[in-house]
Amino acid sequence: MSNEAKVIIDEKEYRYPIIVGTEGERAIDAMNLRKDTGCITYDDGYGNTGSCKSDVTFIDGELGILRHRGYPIEQLAENSSFLETAYLVIYGELPTGDDYAKFRARINSNANMHEGMKNIFSAFPPGAHPMAVLSALMNTVGCYYPELATNDRHKDVQMFDWAAALLLSKVRTIAALTYRHLKGKPWVYSRPNYRYTENFLHMMFSDPYNDYVPRSEIADALDLIFLLHADHEQNCSTSTVRMVASSGANLFASVAAGVCALWGPLHGGANMAVIRMLEDIHNTGDDGTCFIENAKNGKQRLMGFGHRVYRNFDPRSRILGKAAERIFDKIGVQDPLLDIARRIEEVALKDDYFISRKLYPNVDFYSGIILRAIGIPVEFFTVMFSIGRMPGWIANWYEIAIQPRQKIHRPRQIYTGKNARDYVQMDQRG
Ligand code: ACO
Repeated sequence: MSNEAKVIIDEKEYRYPIIVGTEGERAIDAMNLRKDTGCITYDDGYGNTGSCKSDVTFIDGELGILRHRGYPIEQLAENSSFLETAYLVIYGELPTGDDYAKFRARINSNANMHEGMKNIFSAFPPGAHPMAVLSALMNTVGCYYPELATNDRHKDVQMFDWAAALLLSKVRTIAALTYRHLKGKPWVYSRPNYRYTENFLHMMFSDPYNDYVPRSEIADALDLIFLLHADHEQNCSTSTVRMVASSGANLFASVAAGVCALWGPLHGGANMAVIRMLEDIHNTGDDGTCFIENAKNGKQRLMGFGHRVYRNFDPRSRILGKAAERIFDKIGVQDPLLDIARRIEEVALKDDYFISRKLYPNVDFYSGIILRAIGIPVEFFTVMFSIGRMPGWIANWYEIAIQPRQKIHRPRQIYTGKNARDYVQMDQRG
């Protein structure tokens, strides 16, 4: 196999090295292309652009492979917790001994919020979208820990372990307290003896005189959902985090931008959109057949189907599809939306429209149904995704932060506006 690419422009030949990743994926190194040729590459949507080298996550979309730091997602889902996977994603190794104990202790001891934050919560109107609250509060948390969010790269990297654990802890608390604020309920404080997801459910659903005692099957289901979202390579929100980080911005500011990017319905917002879609189908008495026809005619989009990278199957969706049945049995919930989802999946997977376009259920197809079954309100689904994705954002921020000579990310464009024109000021036009 060749280790260089030849580019011929105006009959002149240029050679560029082909770089190869550890799993054999190949890229033309075009770093000198513009300098040599005056041309840039044009790749709207970045489907053919490698924006970085990364050690965190490997995806083979054709084969449905997802690995974090070399470990297949199926094994992590089977044998690890969300926090163990978060540690792996951030630090590169599965947790052992003292370091993991320190990591967990930091997460536990930082679960509660500064009381001053109550004023900030109370400024949000009752109809505020929880993702808007979350992105604003990610930055606000940084304001309460100025020593962790300095925008001095050297100092921010020195404090990284603290900042990483703090964010993993606070994102969960902010999510729970946002729910309580929007419901007009008082704050509930964390319980250090609860595990990560139990604590979240407690802070979200307990009342001062009525403890919500998290059932282990519900805490486990939430843990699995968080784990399956832990990282996903250079998706829209993670690329956003890296982009912001490349300017020298601190971890808190960078993940706040990640939350905004995740909010959109074509990215993390899809888990909400799936439920809205299934509810609409259910309310019109359709069993999914009419909806699929509309999706094929371009009148509607089958939310939870399709993926920019996975062109065969999304391994996370397979894990969740199987888990959904088990979770529903264990918690004793029956939901007609699950039947509709199953039927849509069955029909779409046999339909030429979806087969020819390589459209398969993605992680959002089943995550929403499970979140609904365990009592998470639909407008909080994307917030749940943000909690899950936090380790990936943190790990990717760190990769940027420790680069010895970090370049600010600054893509170019092809200008398609008007050509140069003479400018005449309004008051001189007569
Ligand atoms: N329903 C119906 N048709 C679809 C769907 C869908 N969900 N997704 C893609 N298509 C069709 C398009 O209309 C297009 O058809 P055409 O070739 O006849 O014009 C073709 O498939 C290619 O579609 P693109 O939008 O170019 O595919 P792309 O790879 O850019 O988009 C995306 C991927 C955004 C995920 C898309 O499949 C989609 O909108 N899916 C629904 C939203 C969703 O579930 N998003 C979550 C993604 S996973 C995540 O972020 C965690």
